[in-house]
Amino acid sequence: MQCSWKAVILLALASIAIQYTAIRTLTSKPFQLCPLPSPQNCGLGGQETEPPFERGAAGSGSCDDYPYFTINATRKTHILVLATTRSGSSFVGQLLNQHQDVFYLFEPLYHVQTTLIPRLSHSRNAADRRVMLGASRDLLRSLYGCDLYFLESYIKPTPTNHTTDKLFRRGASRALCQQPVCDAFGPADMNVEEGDCVKKCAALNMTLATEACREKRHVAIKIVRVPEIGDLRALVEDPRLNIKVIQLVRDPRGILSSRIETFRDTYRLWRIWRATGRRPYNLDLSQLTVVCEDFLSSVSTGLNHPYWLKGKYMLVRYEDLARNPLLKTKEIYDYLGLPMDKNVEDWIHANTRGSNEPSAKHKFGTVRDSAANAESWRLKLSYDMVEYTQTVCQKVLHQLGYKAVKSVEELKNMSLSLVQDKTFVPFL
Ligand SMILES: *[C@@H]1O[C@H](CO)[C@@H](O)[C@H](O)[C@H]1NC(C)=O
Ligand SMILES: *[C@@H]1O[C@H](CO)[C@@H](O)[C@H](O)[C@H]1NC(C)=O
Ligand SMILES: *[C@@H]1O[C@H](CO)[C@@H](O)[C@H](O)[C@H]1NC(C)=O
Ligand SMILES: *[C@@H]1O[C@H](CO)[C@@H](O)[C@H](O)[C@H]1NC(C)=O
Repeated sequence: MQCSWKAVILLALASIAIQYTAIRTLTSKPFQLCPLPSPQNCGLGGQETEPPFERGAAGSGSCDDYPYFTINATRKTHILVLATTRSGSSFVGQLLNQHQDVFYLFEPLYHVQTTLIPRLSHSRNAADRRVMLGASRDLLRSLYGCDLYFLESYIKPTPTNHTTDKLFRRGASRALCQQPVCDAFGPADMNVEEGDCVKKCAALNMTLATEACREKRHVAIKIVRVPEIGDLRALVEDPRLNIKVIQLVRDPRGILSSRIETFRDTYRLWRIWRATGRRPYNLDLSQLTVVCEDFLSSVSTGLNHPYWLKGKYMLVRYEDLARNPLLKTKEIYDYLGLPMDKNVEDWIHANTRGSNEPSAKHKFGTVRDSAANAESWRLKLSYDMVEYTQTVCQKVLHQLGYKAVKSVEELKNMSLSLVQDKTFVPFL
């Protein structure tokens, strides 16, 4: 039998091609390992011609041209506060924002959502969700690398000359309201109110913001638009990052009550229920069930201690923080491996005392609710609504140590706490 040498060569070439393709597919599967922007090329002026962090990576596989970098364990800590709206996340954000070594951003994913899925605030469409999550992970990765220019592609209107006055909740970031980013306040103005910052600071110069980020030792980002921690696995496992997740949870009954007060339009039907005692037939139950499902799934993942979360996961109950802010904050900083500085301590003292202090203007729930009042939802929700919530959120209530009530007397008797003592130790 004769075998043409041409056929042999052809076969050999084909098999090399197939292997090459297979390897490429494998290596580029989760996402590509582009080099980390070193502090020197963190998207600053004069560097614009260089490929920004990951920007070119999505389609082209251009990262292959760069050497993989080695991890330096003494690098920045990348703190991620994973929360949901009305779960006390602004308060936790402040506990990090007040630290002088931390650069803090308040929900940058807002811009991703408004750009990608403008009309659906909580889209449950699987395809939308995937797009949103992919974009969110890319953005977070860039922001942890202090590439704030990356955010510009999501800001509307698109910033010109790297300047914008449309950054969502800019005023919640201390570093963005201080010199050199903003000249309106002197070093003596320690606690600039969010509104004052927005009013008095000139448009945000993203180049200066980037510099401010680079100068801080650590970066903290609070997000409420990622449903569960499993969605962030690729980010947590990214060897270029040093992620520490703080998952914040709150009693779903408290979240519901707080949302009813805050999001008056979206939760209108729930208010009708509360006022009339009758559940409207067209009530959007998912507004409640999604919270419980996401908590349950996140918490189950986190508390199962998968290897990829080792050393990177801490569950915090808002109620524990409200009860004992100083102690709990110390625990959080211990977990992060950072010393808690005096700014943070001062801020806690100023913002968590009882209402006898002239602190009423502070808008952090823990002041108004004060420690004992993290359970004030019990006086606001009807028994019907509470009972209903307990039915659909039964599992997660149990898992997080929130006690279900069996009667209206029990619900309204504030001398009985519904928050059971339960310790969630960080996964070390
Ligand atoms: C890691 O970073 C620290 C501080 O920036 C530096 O002193 C040290 O030399 C770095 N180590 C390596 C292996 O690059
Ligand atoms: C951006 O900068 C250029 C050059 O300094 C200037 O000509 C242009 O007017 C600026 N654009 C805006 C919108 O400020
Ligand atoms: C933003 O700040 C950088 C760095 O100081 C400066 O070079 C640039 O001109 C500023 N941009 C604007 C539009 O003022
Ligand atoms: C509230 O609960 C406490 C503790 O169980 C009980 O002693 C008290 O009688 C209750 N108050 C009312 C009004 O039911």
